[in-house]
Amino acid sequence: MTDSAAFEIRDPALADEGHRRTEWALQEMPVLRQLASRFGKQRPLQGVRISGCLHITTETANLARTLKAAGADIVLCASNPLSTQDDVAAALVERYEIPVYAMRGEGNEAYYRHINAALDHRPVITMDDGADLVSEIHQSRSELIDDMLGGTEETTTGVIRLRAMAAEGALKFPIIAVNDAMTKHLFDNRYGTGQSTLDGVIRATNILIAGKTLTVVGYGWCGRGIALRAKGHGANVVVTEVDPLRALEAAMDGYRVMPLCEAAAQSDFIITATGDKHVVDKQHMEVMKDGCVMANSGHFNVEINIPALEAMSVGKQRPRGSVEEYTLADGRRLRLLAEGRLVNLAAAEGHPSAVMDMSFANQVLCVVYLASQAQGLDRSVHNVPAEIDQEVARLKLAAMDISIDELTGEQRRYLSSWREGT
Ligand SMILES: NC(=O)c1ccc[n+]([C@@H]2O[C@H](COP(=O)([O-])OP(=O)(O)OC[C@H]3O[C@@H](n4cnc5c(N)ncnc54)[C@H](O)[C@@H]3O)[C@@H](O)[C@H]2O)c1
Repeated sequence: MTDSAAFEIRDPALADEGHRRTEWALQEMPVLRQLASRFGKQRPLQGVRISGCLHITTETANLARTLKAAGADIVLCASNPLSTQDDVAAALVERYEIPVYAMRGEGNEAYYRHINAALDHRPVITMDDGADLVSEIHQSRSELIDDMLGGTEETTTGVIRLRAMAAEGALKFPIIAVNDAMTKHLFDNRYGTGQSTLDGVIRATNILIAGKTLTVVGYGWCGRGIALRAKGHGANVVVTEVDPLRALEAAMDGYRVMPLCEAAAQSDFIITATGDKHVVDKQHMEVMKDGCVMANSGHFNVEINIPALEAMSVGKQRPRGSVEEYTLADGRRLRLLAEGRLVNLAAAEGHPSAVMDMSFANQVLCVVYLASQAQGLDRSVHNVPAEIDQEVARLKLAAMDISIDELTGEQRRYLSSWREGT
């Protein structure tokens, strides 16, 4: 067992339950299992200090175990106060000897205290999901910068923040944008967020989706997945966008596309996935139907303007665990799920393990890459090397028992030549 001062979790007694669930998840994570076995022998991260600010879930536990098997000295804190699974935090500490600073429902003060506890570990590599470690290092822990090799970033919102830092010349060490790997966002953002967001909405409300009007705000990787799964449930799906290309794509994928003010007036559900602020605002709430359910799957709880909702309402009650029902002066009731935080993590269990297997295999391979190659990288946001993406896809296909064709010599020559035509 780890030193009791070196962690802060809800209840160590939950460790057995967390361990059982983490092992269950591992069965759906064959790529991580292969990497743990390979790196367990090679130990490419021997003694490398890593701090991870990630959702504390069973899949993250398996990522941390893989890095530890590769030799890393790793600690974790939460990247969202509502996504921590306390039993997993307990298993990490008690069963896998990985210090964790995270409790589900922790307040803002505890959240930042935990981030700083993870930074007291003096990481040379950070793993972020929303750039909180990197931004804290740059804003108040600059003594750590000199030793930093680099960091990885898991999600779209974090990559946007870090690219903004790099553009201002403020980023002091290299970052690899794991989010931008094809084997991450094509599957995790689309199929992972798609399935788990619907799961969160259903668990939170138990309202039938079939036959309802469900509006998806933002038709990016996450929005596409949410719309696809909602359509599969029989919803009448509306998409709202600000980007004409994405809006066109949504229209040709068969969804109705219109401004949110129009959509809000007919929606039973409104789900945001934009990475943007106040996309659902006062003017939309003013026209929503009685009973409209609002949920967010974007990274921060700013997509729905909750202060505006609070100001408009005359009463609030909690009819179910993850539902807050606001009553407006005209009697309409508007329902907000999971306090506007990531509904798929707060009201369900986050992404299914099989997609996190690929995202986290990218994390492991990028951390190993940083540990050996960081010297050659400049202080900007880097793409995941194409070979890593290819390797993750190859390992996943092999684990799924799917084989594919190979280019013949003739085809390779044809595809790389400009002389040969019809
Ligand atoms: N819930 C999860 O588990 C999970 C998983 C992955 C990513 N994310 C987060 O989800 C968010 C979206 O990620 P993504 O990969 O889909 O990003 P993306 O950039 O591919 O898509 C975002 C879309 O939102 C649109 N948009 C922006 N402002 C808008 C507005 N006011 N109205 C309508 N549309 C608007 C953009 O035009 C874009 O098409 C990010 O915050 C990301 O960090 C969440």
